[in-house]
Formats: sequence, structure tokens, C-alpha cells
Amino acid sequence: MKSLSVTSLVLVAAVTADSVHLAARTNAGLFHGVQTLRQLLPFEVESDMNVRPATGWRIPALTIVDRPRYAWRGAMLDVARHFFTVDEVKQVIDIVALYKLNTLHLHLTDDQGWRIEIKSRPKLASVSGASQMGGGVGGFYTQDDFREIVRYAAERFVTIVPEIEMPGHSSSVVNAYPEVHCTTRPGGNPDSTFYGICPDSAESFRLVDDVVREVSALSPGPYIHIGADEVSVLPPEQFVRFVERAQDIVTKYNKRMIGWEEIFRARLLPTTLVQLWRTDSARGALSYGSKLIMSPAPKVYLDMKYTPNTELGLDWSGFVEPRTSYEWDPATYLPGVTDANIVGVEAPLWTETVRNVTAAEYMILPRLPAIAELAWTPPAARRWDDFRERIAEHAPRWRLMGINYYPSAQIRWR
Ligand code: ACM
Repeated sequence: MKSLSVTSLVLVAAVTADSVHLAARTNAGLFHGVQTLRQLLPFEVESDMNVRPATGWRIPALTIVDRPRYAWRGAMLDVARHFFTVDEVKQVIDIVALYKLNTLHLHLTDDQGWRIEIKSRPKLASVSGASQMGGGVGGFYTQDDFREIVRYAAERFVTIVPEIEMPGHSSSVVNAYPEVHCTTRPGGNPDSTFYGICPDSAESFRLVDDVVREVSALSPGPYIHIGADEVSVLPPEQFVRFVERAQDIVTKYNKRMIGWEEIFRARLLPTTLVQLWRTDSARGALSYGSKLIMSPAPKVYLDMKYTPNTELGLDWSGFVEPRTSYEWDPATYLPGVTDANIVGVEAPLWTETVRNVTAAEYMILPRLPAIAELAWTPPAARRWDDFRERIAEHAPRWRLMGINYYPSAQIRWR
């Protein structure tokens, strides 16, 4: 590379007969320029076998001026249903970075397991780290493990967003600290099916404070995600009180709260982000000035089966082939929601059926690059027929990198 300079508001890559010039306003921009350059080189560049031809690598002479459409370009990995080791999470971060996404949301806790060491609440990891879906041994990240994930991601300009799910999907909390559980349903119904954190007990909020304090200290990123989806057995007013109290605690530790779309019922801060996944209810958050992360399940849920024959995945939101993930637009998805209300797009991988990184890759590729292009490129410059040709050329790269993928029939693979 002949020269690198940080002079421009946008990423500029210019390849001439004797030089490659990359300029960007930020270090992240330069990193993304290098990923583009990597994609311009022949696929053999990804080999570890030192197969460089005697004539050297060739790239076409061209100029690219580029900038991302959305600030938030993310993926989510559920490490609670099935535990993923630090090395496996790093492999997912590598894919996220390769496609110039900048956020990896880790769903760290759910009914089936708790995955992060909390020193003031040691039983969360020691008791609830030892379980996972289907009865495996589970696992958890020590605080040093988590710092290592954050460091590895930051080196690739990826921010880790920790999600601590509450007050529902919290059986792992109740198993470790039964005192936060309501023995009767709030409101007095003894037939409770609520296995979550009791929203009206001081002990509950002492635990939430301990967890948010420690996770905030471990996380240099500005956000703590509190989940808050699917709390159907809690009366609405109790749920709202819980979310508002959690928002106060997150704010006290100088973080911004994120919650799934159900939090729209609470009085939100304009800095709180709301993650759309299922309905149009996220629109309710706009009256507080809160912005949306767009994760509509029928378009971007990476745990949906591709077709009825896909051996992994669920189908409650339909089948999601790569074209479905590519051909929609966040700014026209919901009436009344425009780009001014949207921070970006995130593709979640829930792991009820996904037990290791090989399986995760099968669900991630080729859908995640389709979603990354949607998050990066303006609608006028996106065409499925063009994308499907370009992405076909990535399969030999994935094979050299040892990355699994789904060979969708929508793409003519090389
Ligand atoms: C979700 O899929 N329950 C957010």
C-alpha cells in the first residue's frame, strides 16, 4: 500500500496501476477499506498455504467512495440457550468484521443458563452457568474471558452489547437466587407461571443493580440491553414499573438502555433504544424520541429455517432465504417509521437448535452478508441480481477460511 491518510469524510479507495490509496475519517473507516480491498483480491488470498502467484495478486484499477447508511450494523448471538466458547465467539466476530458490521449483541442470559461471572452474585455463574438447553454442561465467561471478547472485538472495530434478560426469561436467576422470585403472582394470584424476577421486591433491584454495575464496568460500549421481551404473565403496570426502574439503574451506571420492543409501554428516555422484532408496537417508542434497531423476524432472524428442509432452525416466523433478508427496506417497513427514527439493523441468531459455531455459521452465511449490504448501501444501489452474483464468489473464500455456509439454491455458487 503506497499511502494511507485520514483526510476525507468518507472512505475512499483508489487503485491505480502502481498504487492503492485508502483514506477515511476514522480508523474504523480504514479497517473497512481494508476489508473491501481484501474482497477485491482473488479468493486464494484467504489461503494459509502461501500460494501467491509469481506474478503477484491482481486487483482491478478503480475508485470507490463509500459510506455506511446506518450507524448500527449488527448481529446477535444467543450464548444462553447453548454456550459458545470464547474462541467460537471470536470466530463469529471475524465474520461480523469481514462484512463491515460494527456491533455484536451477546444474549448472555435466559431461562436455560447464565453466561457471565458476577463477582457480587457468584451463584449466577456457578449454579446457572452449568446448564443449557437439552441438558448439556453449559459454561460461562469469567470476567477476564469477557474482557478478552471485548478486546478482540474492539481490535476489529466491533462493539459488544451485553444483554442481561429481565424480568422474564430469568429462570436462571431464580434458580441461583430464589429470593428474587415472587412466590405468588404479583396481584395475588397463587397460580403463578411467572418464573422471572419479582418486580416489586427490593431484593430484586439489589440484584439488578449488582449485575448492571459489574457488567457496565466490564463493557466499554455505551449500551446495556435488558431484554424485557415476552413477559406476558406480568400485569402491564408491574412490567412498566420494572422497566422504568431498570432504566434508572442502567442510567446510574452511565449506560444507555436497550430493550426489545415490548418496553415501548414504559416511559422511555430519548437515549434508550428499542429493538423491533415482531410487531409494529415499537412505533410506540417514537413519542419518547427513542430510536429503533430494526430486527424484524420474518426478514433477519438468522435462526429461522431457510426452507422446510433445513435441518436446523425454527419456523414460527416463516422461512427466510437470503433473498428475503436482502429485499426489504428498514425505512419503509413500518408506516410512520423513517430513517430518522432508525439507528440501524441487527440480525439475531437464537440458538435453541444451534449448538456450536459450525451450526451457527450455517445459519449466518449467506444471510448475514445480505443484511450487512442492506445496512451499508443505499436502496437505490442495491439489486438482488447483482448481490447474488457477487456473494457466489465468497464461497471459495469461506471454504479456505474453514467457515461453514448454507448453499442456498437462490445463488449460483462457483
Ligand atoms: C425475541 O425473539 N423474543 C426477542
